Formats: sequence, C-alpha cells, structure tokens
Amino acid sequence: MDFIDLKAQQKRIRDKIDAAIARVLDHGGYILGPEVRAFESQLAAFGEAKLALSCANGTDAVVLPLMAWGIGPGDAVFCPSFTFAATAEVVPWTGATPVFVDILPDTYNMDPAHLERAIDGVLREGQLKPAAVIAVDLFGQPADYPKIAEICRRHGLKLLADSAQGFGCTLDGHHPLHWADAAATSFFPAKPLGCYGDGGAVLTNAADLWNRMDSLRIHGKGEDKYDNVVIGMNSRLDSIQAAVLIEKLAIFAEEIVLRNTVADRYGRELAGAVDVPTVISGGVSVWAQYTIETDDRDGLAAHLKTKGVPTAAYYPKPLHMQTAYKAFPVGGNGLPVSEAKAARVLSLPMHPYLDEQTQDMIVQAVREFA
Ligand SMILES: Cc1ncc(COP(=O)(O)O)c(C=O)c1O
Repeated sequence: MDFIDLKAQQKRIRDKIDAAIARVLDHGGYILGPEVRAFESQLAAFGEAKLALSCANGTDAVVLPLMAWGIGPGDAVFCPSFTFAATAEVVPWTGATPVFVDILPDTYNMDPAHLERAIDGVLREGQLKPAAVIAVDLFGQPADYPKIAEICRRHGLKLLADSAQGFGCTLDGHHPLHWADAAATSFFPAKPLGCYGDGGAVLTNAADLWNRMDSLRIHGKGEDKYDNVVIGMNSRLDSIQAAVLIEKLAIFAEEIVLRNTVADRYGRELAGAVDVPTVISGGVSVWAQYTIETDDRDGLAAHLKTKGVPTAAYYPKPLHMQTAYKAFPVGGNGLPVSEAKAARVLSLPMHPYLDEQTQDMIVQAVREFA
C-alpha cells in the first residue's frame, strides 16, 4: 500500500503523458517552451487568477512575491509555525524576520485573532515593521481568508497564500487569490497537482507584480537576460513538466471530487475512534493530507505499520521549536496550539484513487488500535 499512490493516476493518463513528453522532445524547446505559456494560462484560469507565473519549485513560488514586493531587512512577515519549513525559510532569505503565529485547533490554519495579537506585539516593540502575512492552506484546506485579509487591509500588509498543499481549494466558492495579493503553489510530485519532478507557480491579478517576478526568475532581467536590472535568480519550470501538468490539470477538478469522496468516507468510518478533520465552514479541501488526531500518535503509527499501512506525522516539531528558527519571534504569549497538535497528528494514506477495500483495511486497523 502506498501513502500517496501516484501510479494509479499515471495508469489512467499514461498515453497522454507519453504523447505530451514526445511533443516536447520533437520541438526541442525544453526551457520556457510553448507548454509553459499554455500551462500558465490554464493554471490561472483554474485558480481564478488573471495571471500565473511558473517557477522551479514551490519554495521559489513563496519567495518570488516577497522579493517582488521589496520585503527586506527590518520587515516582519507573519506566518504559521505549524507548517513545512519552506513557508518561513524564505523570509530570512530576503533579510526580513518571520514572526510565528498560532493556528486554530480545528483547521490547523492561521488563527486570525492570534495574528492580530502578533501584529500588535510587533508594533508595540517598535523594532520591526509589519509588512506581510503568509497564510498556509495546510493539508489542503483554505485558511480563514476573509478574516485574515481584513486584518491585512487594516494594517496595510501584503497577503500571500502559501497554497503549496492547497491549490484548488475554495472558500465560499472562491480560490485563495480572491482575498490574497498572490498565491503560491508547488508541483512536487506528491502534491494534489504535482508533476514528475520539481515545479511551482505564483498566481496573481496584478500585472506589475507578475512583471517583477518574471524579471526576478530570469536573473533580474530588464530588456533581456543580458540586461540585469535587479538581483534575481534562476527559477524556471521545464517544458516537459509543463506538458505533464497540462494533462494532470485536465483531470484535476474531477480528482478533487474523488479526494473529497475518500475523505468523507474516512470521516464517516473513523468518527468516534479518533478525532477526524474539520473543514472550515464554506470550504472545500483538496485533501493533500487526511490527518487524524489521537493521544497515542506514535503507538497508532507503529500499530498501522505492522498492518502494512504507511502513515506520516506532519509536523512533529513546529518551526519555532526548530534549531534553525527558534531565535525568531513568536506572537502573543507563545504557540500552545501548534505545540499540542505536533504531538497528536497522524496522516493516513490519501489520494483520489484509494479504493474502498483498501480504505476499509486502513479504517479497521485504526479502529482496532483505538
Ligand atoms: C506549505 C508548503 N509550502 C511550501 C512548500 C515548498 O514546495 P517545494 O517542495 O515545491 O519547494 C511545501 C512543500 O513541500 C509546502 O508544503
């Protein structure tokens, strides 16, 4: 049994993927070829954006908007601690300081009230200037964008959606970009919309932001890449990966429905035995992870392993407790929810093609232990 079975999807569209890759080999435009432009416009349309800009990975997709906004030394960027390192990692790259914010206990996403306290704390101390918020769509579900965007508006902060796990999620029918200034995603193979290597993209409605990021991803180009007007980087999506993504995007909407069918079934079958996930009211998750909670997380993981069920603990240690990040400030009086959740969460196998028989086996193994 796979934790995320990528082979089932590949079997379904293998002929289309083979043909798409063959087309790239035939025309030979491996870098920024026609597939990249086509994919960018299809991705923008899917994510309710005017524009999309592809890049080399999801980490670059998070840093590119920060760089383009001129975030730098003296700026505070507020982000959750209960997330993958990439969310916060890029902030010190720009010279700015990440300020960690706690999460809501039911959705694992940024707690707007705690964000407000963190901003007030930074303003009171007067050392840093609040500049931006990175909200994460953890495990695939949208953060509370209406509340977070209102706080950002009031304080004049940029809002970036780190939708690396959540691309395709919606809240009241809208994608995160409806509220955010930019949304970043990752095409790491295991992500809900993944390619066969590394890739990422930023979605935005702002043409000036897109232009600045387009310059940054090509060594800070001006007229061309031999005219360098700002310090940039090299961050491109390969044409072969774009060709693969075009085929995967074509079935993505259907796969989101399948993911929700699997998640709903888990929810029904596991309720009572363990704590099952809650989705924000009005939200549709893309279920990058199906994460349950239990007091004896490590015991349950060990038991499931003996039954051949792979699991993962995302995330066993919040970032503010990690060696690399513990010197950075935390908002309010600490992050008790992030710390408590890190000890309780366990993610179960989840992908759109998880069949009922396999799922029954997983459910039975969880129930046995519980
Ligand atoms: C929340 C979050 N942000 C950013 C990233 C970075 O994406 P990538 O691995 O493509 O650089 C990931 C995924 O790994 C992620 O889960």
